[in-house]
Amino acid sequence: MRLYLRLMRLRVAVAISGRGSNLAALLQALAPGAPAEVVLVISNRADAGGLAVAREHDVPTHVLKNSADADEWLRALSGSDAGLVVLAGFLKHVPVEVVTAYRGRIINIHPALLPRHGGPGMYGLRVHQAVLAAGDAESGATVHLVTEEYDRGPILGQAYLQVLPADTAESLAARVLQLEHRLLPAAVLAAARAGHAVPFSLEREDAALRRHAAT
Ligand code: GRF
Repeated sequence: MRLYLRLMRLRVAVAISGRGSNLAALLQALAPGAPAEVVLVISNRADAGGLAVAREHDVPTHVLKNSADADEWLRALSGSDAGLVVLAGFLKHVPVEVVTAYRGRIINIHPALLPRHGGPGMYGLRVHQAVLAAGDAESGATVHLVTEEYDRGPILGQAYLQVLPADTAESLAARVLQLEHRLLPAAVLAAARAGHAVPFSLEREDAALRRHAAT
């Protein structure tokens, strides 16, 4: 049974540009019994904090020489036999050839309730500033499929919170990040069961993740 699970594990490549807290949350959530494992971390920056996170977990890393070079991406991804690509704070465009080759198998996490507050230039604190400027009562995080259009692929799952009267962009960012750390593992777990990225419910996957952590 253990061998079967191992053979069936979804191989996940994670692309990052920065500190990698979502990567860390994913690595922590995917305990040895989980049906997915992170097999590669790709970064466009050699100084990304997330690379150290990967190394601490003995996950191979690849620093892109040129993030616009589709061949470099495809070589790295096929070399690790990745079945799912997760963009977790990856701030460059993924080449269209890569999106095509991994269609239905690339997901992104965004720190707002898409389709609101997404698109080019919408990253970091700017997202939360936009939420506050719009007077939104709710914010949250979104996992969606990556398509050629930035932040516009089909939504797979979302997590919500209430914007509080005292919220600043910083406080909102911190609370949304906590949600992201649950939402991303949930998306990966659901994908592992289906063999490709699928719509999912955070509550259902949360329960499954707790079960895996306990075994
Ligand atoms: C997260 O807020 C994610 O939603 C966005 O970039 C940030 C990355 O944070 N796409 P981290 O590097 O995972 O800590």
